[in-house]
Amino acid sequence: MFASRFNMDEPTRVFLVLSGEHPTLPLAEMRAILDANRIPFKITGSFYKLVEIQAEMEAVKPIAGRGAFIDEVGTEIVHSGPTITEIDDAVKSSDLSRYLPPDESFSVRVLRFGGVSKETSRVKLEGHLGWLIHNITRAKVDLENPQRLFHGLLAGPYFHLGLVAYQRPAGYVASRRPRKRPVFHPSTMTPKLARSMVNLSRAIGGTTFLDPFCGVGGILLEASLLGCEVIGMDALRRMIRGSRRNLKYFQMDPSGLIRGDARNIPVTRVEAMATDPPYGTGASTLKSTTRNILKDFLPEANSALAKAGRLVVASPLGTGTPDIAESAGFRVADRHEVYVHRSLTREILVLEAN
Ligand SMILES: C[S@@+](CC[C@H](N)C(=O)[O-])C[C@H]1O[C@@H](n2cnc3c(N)ncnc32)[C@H](O)[C@@H]1O
Repeated sequence: MFASRFNMDEPTRVFLVLSGEHPTLPLAEMRAILDANRIPFKITGSFYKLVEIQAEMEAVKPIAGRGAFIDEVGTEIVHSGPTITEIDDAVKSSDLSRYLPPDESFSVRVLRFGGVSKETSRVKLEGHLGWLIHNITRAKVDLENPQRLFHGLLAGPYFHLGLVAYQRPAGYVASRRPRKRPVFHPSTMTPKLARSMVNLSRAIGGTTFLDPFCGVGGILLEASLLGCEVIGMDALRRMIRGSRRNLKYFQMDPSGLIRGDARNIPVTRVEAMATDPPYGTGASTLKSTTRNILKDFLPEANSALAKAGRLVVASPLGTGTPDIAESAGFRVADRHEVYVHRSLTREILVLEAN
């Protein structure tokens, strides 16, 4: 509904509004998705949830929906100071008419990030921008069902006016919530964290993807939905059965589900892996410890991965996983901490095989 019908050949200024749910994962996920899809981009600015990049809008738009933490994407038309006079001057001298033909309707919403520019009233600014855009383009305001949606973003010391190209549908993971699946297990991750881990592994459609501790398939499901060739392994037959049922429920067809020990992986040249090994609380470590499992698993994962393939692994903070990973020959490319509850913070590592 908000797609631009104009062809934009030159690199455009694209803005992304990322989720504020986590301080580091959303930006890392955005970078990983753009890299994995070989979309050239350069970050030109960022403030809180807003990121400005230089990239081809037509390339970014189709992959925006892959991100667990990408809320919105659009073309940036105006970048100015936050006062009404500065905004006015910038809008009048912009190429706005290129984005809004006179026969189309539009609406404007103003969002403020991080409590900045309080002297500029959001509601007044929305009304003023509506009037200004109408005067410049002759297009009509339609608040109910606009053909184009503009977002005015007050972020840091700047104001940005952008044409929205993608918005994450409300409740987009609701149908995949662990409790909504045919087989539930308390060790299953949320779909958002699982999706972001798959994205951090640089998996895209057609990539061979392995989760060697797949449980009832939360991570496998996200990789399958992205079009990967997924293989799952778990030491317990009932978990494999659970994965099979859950994937089938979402009409996903894995390339393989194997009952086996992740310390002995029967496949090679895997392109990407994301996994959540057992911590001995929700999921059984089968008489071992997370640390000992990782000591045996990580060298095996390094050999199973193709060169420069990535493994994204979660473990309880304090397990010492970065050192174990380096001893296993991995390069620690990135790390994030995700607070779960008082006695569990997950450390998410992005590891590159050699
Ligand atoms: C935290 S759960 C994985 C949850 C999974 N990500 C999901 O969304 O359902 C860890 C799984 O590892 C399995 N497991 C434990 N030791 C294993 C081993 N040595 N090899 C393979 N799987 C193992 C457990 O049976 C459990 O299902």
